[in-house]
Amino acid sequence: MAVSKPAPGVIRKLNEVVVNRIAAGEVIQRPANALKEMIENSLDAKSTSIQVTVKQGGLKLLQIQDNGSGVRKEDMEIVCERFTTSKLQKFEDLNSIATYGFRGEALASISHVAHVTITTRTVDSKCAYKGMYSDGKLKEPVKPCAGNIGTQITVEDLFYNITTRRKALKSPSDEHAKVVEVVSRYAVHNSGVGFTVKKHGDSTADVRTPVNSSPVDNIRTIFGPSIAKELLNISHENQQMSFKLNGYITNANYSMKKCTFLLFINHRLVDSGSLKKAIDNIYQAYLPKNMHPFLYLRTVLSAVLYVKCPQNGSFSNALRQM
Ligand SMILES: Nc1ncnc2c1ncn2[C@@H]1O[C@H](COP(=O)(O)OP(=O)(O)O)[C@@H](O)[C@H]1O
Ligand SMILES: [Mg+2]
Repeated sequence: MAVSKPAPGVIRKLNEVVVNRIAAGEVIQRPANALKEMIENSLDAKSTSIQVTVKQGGLKLLQIQDNGSGVRKEDMEIVCERFTTSKLQKFEDLNSIATYGFRGEALASISHVAHVTITTRTVDSKCAYKGMYSDGKLKEPVKPCAGNIGTQITVEDLFYNITTRRKALKSPSDEHAKVVEVVSRYAVHNSGVGFTVKKHGDSTADVRTPVNSSPVDNIRTIFGPSIAKELLNISHENQQMSFKLNGYITNANYSMKKCTFLLFINHRLVDSGSLKKAIDNIYQAYLPKNMHPFLYLRTVLSAVLYVKCPQNGSFSNALRQM
């Protein structure tokens, strides 16, 4: 007997706006992702001051002000288009790239899922210019205005056009905590830059680090003096593998409520959830209950990093094996 099959679906090409919105939603999943991209842009622009202002966990407003190079007026037309970058020209440049970004996708992605306003001034411009963007494009010609040298990017109503994503992010306070976490981590890793993050309308900052402090100063400011006091400096280098690691960990005497793990690979903050769990399990196995380590590790590597945490070993052994 013939089995009845469903009629095949009709295949259609998706319209460009839908394609871009889906792609953007994959790059930018929450306010903290958008902020990480914007912080990296500010660092690429050689800023020494980065100030972040947040409303409703960044869903209503996420604003970043830096004192970097600014964007040239001529470039403002295309700055939010996909694959527009000042950091890469030809494929070979990838071998010597020293910036965080180079694909020209971050601002484009953000502008497909939020209202973006950029106010920017370069050192040789008499005034600042302001542009408002939607779906990668300028909404109207840029206008001259007052402004400091550097760039201010305002992201409003994130995911206003992706209802499902918006609903999935229920709690502004969770999003705010993630935003503060991203700023804190970049602040520890970039101690030559002063960072602040605060809620819109608040006079006190959630995190404030001074320019030209040290990583340990910033760990003290952000995570507290009791952690800073326990820090051990560790480093490891293997020239053959062009591998370098250094960082700070708390020793076994310290007890805190949860494992804090900051991992930067090639200066990029890495989401290291499973590695953090593995490290925490090792500490848990060897130390009394509820003792957790603090770790800040930064590695520079050209090869692939592979950390194997042995079941009966310690994290320092695991590091030694790298
Ligand atoms: N804060 C900033 N200061 C100066 N220029 C910026 C800033 N943010 C973005 N830009 C410019 O916009 C371009 C596009 O940024 P982005 O979409 O993040 O792509 P990418 O960083 O990969 O180049 C950058 O190449 C840079 O020229
Ligand atoms: Mg970028």
